[in-house]
Amino acid sequence: MIEQIQKLIEEVRTLQAKNAEEVEQLRIKYLSKKGEVNALMNDFRNVPNEMKREVGMRINELKTLAQDKINELRDAVQVAETAGDDLDLTRTPYPIRLGTRHPLTIVKNEIVDIFSRLGFTLAEGPEVEDDWHVYSSMNFADDHPARDMQDTFFVEAHPDIILRSHTSSVQARVMERQQPPIRVICPGRVYRNEAISARAHCFFHQVEGLYVDKNVSFADLKQVLLLFAQEMFGPDTKIRLRPSYFPFTEPSAEMDVSCTICGGKGCSLCKGAGWLEILGCGMVDPAVLEANGIDSTVYTGYAFGMGIERIANLKYQVKDLRMFSENDVRFLQEFTSAN
Ligand code: PHE
Repeated sequence: MIEQIQKLIEEVRTLQAKNAEEVEQLRIKYLSKKGEVNALMNDFRNVPNEMKREVGMRINELKTLAQDKINELRDAVQVAETAGDDLDLTRTPYPIRLGTRHPLTIVKNEIVDIFSRLGFTLAEGPEVEDDWHVYSSMNFADDHPARDMQDTFFVEAHPDIILRSHTSSVQARVMERQQPPIRVICPGRVYRNEAISARAHCFFHQVEGLYVDKNVSFADLKQVLLLFAQEMFGPDTKIRLRPSYFPFTEPSAEMDVSCTICGGKGCSLCKGAGWLEILGCGMVDPAVLEANGIDSTVYTGYAFGMGIERIANLKYQVKDLRMFSENDVRFLQEFTSAN
C-alpha cells in the first residue's frame, strides 16, 4: 500500500492542466468522494495496526499535495485566461494616439506667423553665448546690474561665456553680418538665475523683433505692435505704451493690451486694471547700431521683445509656470485640438 501511495504522490507532482475543465477532472479523480484519496482512506481499516501510523501519514501527505497542486493549477489557468481577454487579434490599430504640440510651440508659431506676414524673417542664435553679444554690443555698461550673478548664468572658469539671458543677442548677430534693411524675428530659450516658483523659472522663452532701415519711426513700431496685438488677442484689442527703460533702446516703452478676459472693465486676471503688460520695445539706441557696424546717421530702427510663457498664460490661463516644463502628458494633451 505504501508503494501505491508513493506512486500516486509522484503522479500528482507532475500533473498538468490546460484549462479550468481539466483542473476539475483532476479534482474529481483525486479528491472527490470516489477519488483516489478517499479510496485509500476506505482501505485504511484493513491496514495492520503496526503500519497504521506510517500509512496514515503518507495518505495525509498525498492529500495535502493533491490539494495544493490542484489549487496551483487552478490559479495558473485563471491567469492565462484573463490575460487572453486583452489580446484581441482582430482589434484595429486605430485610432493611434497622436502627439500634441507643446503650448509654447503653438504660441511661438502663432507669433512668428503674424510677423512673417509683415515681412519679418526668422533668425536664430546660440543659447550659450559670449558677453559681447548678450550685453556689451547691446549697450549694457560694464557695471550694469543685469550682468550680476543674480541674473546671469556664467560658465565657471570662463566668465565671458554665459547662457543668454535674452534673445537680443540674436539681433546683435544679425546686425554684425548684415546691413539694413533688416527685419527679423528671433524666438528662443533664455536663462536667468532665479528661484523656480509658479511665477518664475530659471529658463523661459522669448520672441524679439528688430527692424532697421532708413526713416524707421516710433509710429511704425506702434502700428506693427497694434496689428500684432489684434491678430493675437482679437480685433477689439487696444494697446497702450508706457515709458520705460532698456539699455539698448531709446526711447523705450512697455506695452499693455486691454485685458483679454474683461476687455478693459477690470477683473481678477488684470487685477482690476483693465490692462495686461505683454512686451518691452523702443527705438534701437544709436550706440547699439554703431557697436554692431551700422551707421546710425543713416539708419534708425525699432526693437521689441516678449515672453512666450506670458502670452501663453494669457491665452490658456495656465496658473503655474512650471507646468510648461514638466511634460505632464495630461497637461500636454489638453492642447490636442490646437494647431
Ligand atoms: N531684451 C528685453 C528683455 O529681455 C526685451 C526687449 C527687447 C525690450 C527689445 C525692448 C526691445 O527684457
